[in-house]
Amino acid sequence: MIKIYPRFSEEEIRALGLEGAMPKHVGLIMDGNGRWAKKRLLPRSAGHRAGMEAMKAAVRFSHSIGVEALTVYAFSTENWKRPQTEVDALFALLSEYFYKDIDELDANNVRMIVIGDLGRLAPRMRGLLETAMERTKDNTGLVFNVAINYGGRAEIVHAVRELIEGGAKAEDVTEEAISAHLYTRSQPDPDVIIRTAGEQRLSNFLLWQAAYSEFVFTPVLFPDFDEKAYTDCIKEFMGRTRRFGKVL
Ligand code: IPE
Ligand code: IPE
Ligand code: MG
Repeated sequence: MIKIYPRFSEEEIRALGLEGAMPKHVGLIMDGNGRWAKKRLLPRSAGHRAGMEAMKAAVRFSHSIGVEALTVYAFSTENWKRPQTEVDALFALLSEYFYKDIDELDANNVRMIVIGDLGRLAPRMRGLLETAMERTKDNTGLVFNVAINYGGRAEIVHAVRELIEGGAKAEDVTEEAISAHLYTRSQPDPDVIIRTAGEQRLSNFLLWQAAYSEFVFTPVLFPDFDEKAYTDCIKEFMGRTRRFGKVL
């Protein structure tokens, strides 16, 4: 059954305690699925399945509170180093998600964009992702970027290579030109990057785009990252003063 996500009014948003400028773009490092499963004596794949539900809830809530773009870190270039069984379980879950949930995303006007190097993925997975992107490309609601086989350093290298292949000279290599060749081109940089499960690092996520992002770390393990936990992170962001190098 397709759920239509609610859109909260300004009063409803204020009633959640969210008073301040809403982040336009939220980055989300979904971490702690393994620890969540371990605590319950479950296999790590059960943690990833529970994490998938939390990701769906985060998409819905982002839409409800009026976030314009959500970028989730689903699989890093380093995650290939995990046991093959875990890699297989993660991709099986991702393919199930993109197969089953694309109708719901589309019905909610969500535009889904995969960021990362799709070249290394199995042809079937790649086809599924490309179909999902193509199908939602004209949607005008939430932009939902899913980072799969994504690495921030690899993304920058890829952008510079594209510039060189396009015949760029040294003076053409500018910040704007590099930004325009990243996977997130034409999107604003994330205002806030949230990481769950207590770890305080970027793990190669959006390195370029994070230049002026606020970081919010929560101890909540990703499968437990519910609307309350998400709201608390946004509240923390709203309490920050962003200076961008200026004296205020
Ligand atoms: C999810 O959490 C992150 C992914 C790579 C999908 P983890 O699998 O990293 O969980 P922990 O960090 O081992 O608890
Ligand atoms: C970062 O989490 C990658 C994703 C969330 C997909 P990891 O669990 O892989 O990061 P590290 O290894 O703890 O830095
Ligand atoms: Mg982890």
